[in-house]
Amino acid sequence: MQITTNYLSLRAVKYILMQLLHKKQELEKHLAPLVLASKTIGLVPTMGALHEGHASLIQQAFKENECVVVSIFVNPTQFNNTEDLIKYPKTLDKDIAIIKNISQNIIIYAPSVEEIYKDNISAEKYNFNGLDRVMEGAFRLGHFDGVGTIVEELFRSIKPTKAYFGEKDFQQLQIIKKLVVLKNIPVEIIGCPIVREENGLAMSSRNERLSKEMRLSASFIYSTLRTVREKFGTKSALEVTNWVKSEFDKNNEFRLEYFQIAAIETLKPIKRKFKNKQYRAFIAVFADDVRLIDNIAL
Ligand code: PAJ
Repeated sequence: MQITTNYLSLRAVKYILMQLLHKKQELEKHLAPLVLASKTIGLVPTMGALHEGHASLIQQAFKENECVVVSIFVNPTQFNNTEDLIKYPKTLDKDIAIIKNISQNIIIYAPSVEEIYKDNISAEKYNFNGLDRVMEGAFRLGHFDGVGTIVEELFRSIKPTKAYFGEKDFQQLQIIKKLVVLKNIPVEIIGCPIVREENGLAMSSRNERLSKEMRLSASFIYSTLRTVREKFGTKSALEVTNWVKSEFDKNNEFRLEYFQIAAIETLKPIKRKFKNKQYRAFIAVFADDVRLIDNIAL
């Protein structure tokens, strides 16, 4: 009996520690004493529909900080396609359960669109030095201005010590690193490895929209990237790119939107290989109307 009571009271204490906040003012009020006490704050920005990829970021934030904030906000200004925004899954209760399973000592910040944008839903224009003009930026116009706007807003109100972003969206990660230099924001940006499903498909909230068969055969994307890594040892970027295109030409299930090998600092397609440079291969693919992205270090 004694054990049960203690267990219950322990649970109650933990529950009090988990905070679900919707208002910026509430959030700032909660964080003020932590900032004053110089506690380290880890921030994991998300758009919800959480999966193991997000969970790995939250776990890493816990390892490295005294306090963790997870933001859940489907940011309208980063969607260039209204249908994609409407279809974006909203699963707050499930997300809270996933987060609680990692730790109950956490702040979840889930503001409304009005709370963030008031009556002006628009993005700031940034100069990311061309990082935003290739790949995702070229195919999703204005996307990174939207990402920059929301992430800067979160950095300003939360003032995190470290913020965690997945290498799954490697271009986004590089752009956020650029943003904090550009805007002189004192936060350390941590890149976290890509978490994959058993068959190699990079975890994504969009995977839920794939049929069971498609989800299985989507292992094709990662297996192509792995072969790219192998081939890049002996072949030029152009030869490898042509090989990828021919693989997709033969495949009826997946349509290639882009494939690009780039140096990680500029993200520009490479013309020549240099020994001491780091390269990555990036891919965007349509499976029916579901758009999937992935990348691999070469
Ligand atoms: P979202 O797509 O929800 O992703 C939130 C974070 O989780 C991003 O940093 C993303 O790179 C990371 N992530 C997603 N899938 C992953 C995987 N399989 N392995 C590792 N990390 C993964 O990215 C966004 O939201 C938004 O653009 C945001 C930064 C929140 C701004 O609105």
